[in-house]
Amino acid sequence: MTHPPTPPKTDAARWRARAQEEVGFWSKWIRTGGMRWKEGFERKTDPDAPLAPLVAQFLPELDLTPGQTLEILDIGSGPLSWVGTSHPDFDISVTAVDPLAEEYNAELDRRGVQGVGRPVKGYFETALWQFGPDRFDIVWCANSLDHSIDPVIGLYNIVNLCRDGGGVILMFHPDEAEREEYVGLHQWNLNIESERLTLTRKGRRFDMMKLLDGQQAIRVQTLGSTGRDKPRVVVSFRKTADCNLSELLTV
Ligand SMILES: C[S@@+](CC[C@H](N)C(=O)[O-])C[C@H]1O[C@@H](n2cnc3c(N)ncnc32)[C@H](O)[C@@H]1O
Repeated sequence: MTHPPTPPKTDAARWRARAQEEVGFWSKWIRTGGMRWKEGFERKTDPDAPLAPLVAQFLPELDLTPGQTLEILDIGSGPLSWVGTSHPDFDISVTAVDPLAEEYNAELDRRGVQGVGRPVKGYFETALWQFGPDRFDIVWCANSLDHSIDPVIGLYNIVNLCRDGGGVILMFHPDEAEREEYVGLHQWNLNIESERLTLTRKGRRFDMMKLLDGQQAIRVQTLGSTGRDKPRVVVSFRKTADCNLSELLTV
């Protein structure tokens, strides 16, 4: 059962004002067929795009039944999902979720983009209420958790949206807010410090790894810059436990 999307109450007005820049960027991306990222646009508008290698490589570690439909959540998807829809052993159903879905869909309509999945409106902060716990086999979250209002509750919700035995893949550009000088939705930094996922902002710091206590096969990969693209970090794990925030946060 799903519920209507609920905007977070904390700081939503300021987030909304900052989001105008994001809408402008992705509107131009749609109008120009990907700006300088043409391959990305082609992939995202290909209705048969193969499952992203980062996800496909992870499948053997998850509890899956051959032939099942893989329910994938792409949260913070942007206007079109990158994750892909075809795999030799599985049918794939992608639920793409983004708070700016209405704006993106209007621009996709204007450009006449058809035949691929469109995002529905939703937020990290309230997605657990919207979709319910243990709902997805895989949660994919690329370059978006650090754009949210509250990345800590966002990660908590991601873990709980994934079912036991499923997998979570989180990708981010390290220290994105610092790099972008805190403009627009770039208000939080994710990075790896001493092999731990950390959230920082202007001198403040939180050890996000606490939220992953009890999960299995936690893997951190740093993918260097390819020249055109910024460096990326990928954190993936097999979901085996719900988060107990009280246990995790009390010292
Ligand atoms: C840089 S884009 C990344 C889009 C896509 N994942 C990609 O990798 O191309 C960041 C996206 O995060 C979304 N976002 C920002 N705050 C969010 C929130 N609170 N919940 C979910 N998504 C959010 C933005 O609307 C935006 O579309």
